[in-house]
Amino acid sequence: MKLILLGPPGAGKGTQAKRLEEAHNLIQLSTGDMLRAAVAAGTEVGVKAKTVMEAGELVSDEIVVAIISDRLDEDDIKAGFILDGFPRTVAQARALDGLLADKGMMLDAVVEMQVDDEPLVGRITGRYTCAGCGKGYHDTFEKPKKDGVCDKCGSTEFKRRADDNEETVRSRLAAYHAQTAPLLPYYESRGVLKSIDGMADIEDVTGQINEVLKGI
Ligand code: AP5
Ligand code: MG
Ligand code: ZN
Repeated sequence: MKLILLGPPGAGKGTQAKRLEEAHNLIQLSTGDMLRAAVAAGTEVGVKAKTVMEAGELVSDEIVVAIISDRLDEDDIKAGFILDGFPRTVAQARALDGLLADKGMMLDAVVEMQVDDEPLVGRITGRYTCAGCGKGYHDTFEKPKKDGVCDKCGSTEFKRRADDNEETVRSRLAAYHAQTAPLLPYYESRGVLKSIDGMADIEDVTGQINEVLKGI
């Protein structure tokens, strides 16, 4: 299965991609995670991406398309993947069409997670992840079962993203509406767009995505 999760910052793309990975044996391909790894490693791409990400703007199409192109060449993605945060511009969507066609692959569905802007700010400013295994949490909506201890790996260290502050979230939302929302008609016209209610709770959203997957 080859899926795209499309939605604004905080829509729940990463949360649901992790759940789909485990339930359906798919690989999450998050350009945000790949870029953050490049920033942390101080690579040439990371140096270029750092200030752009901190401002909540989009990294250049050239950089992200090159990252995804390399990743799609690896063998592990052949069984199926979930694109999380890519494509984000019509140019990226066109580039992806070309990459998939070259590899003889086709998209099964583009799942749009519809969420109003206002709750997104609270979702993002309350978000944190386990420093050990990367599992995502939220101060209010997804707390570890035991306070301060990761459910999955037992680590007691957690981290927050540099771009998870209110000001940057507003820029990321503006970038979504201006540059990423045009992908909705792009995929609608190809007959692969499936929209779900991302305002529901996490478990319910997973159920809605599973319903979409049953239908394809
Ligand atoms: P990226 O890492 O992709 O960030 P984003 O799109 O802003 O999305 P987020 O990761 O913030 O949100 P999410 O939808 O994954 O939500 P999550 O599941 O964590 O990109 C970061 C930056 O990298 C970009 O700004 C850009 O600079 C650059 N970049 C990346 N890809 C690029 C590209 N293709 N082109 C150009 N630049 C690119 O959920 C959020 C929180 O809410 C969590 O705490 C979670 O527990 C909670 N939550 C989730 N679902 C629910 C729910 N249903 N109800 C209540 N709480 C919920
Ligand atoms: Mg994410
Ligand atoms: Zn952990």
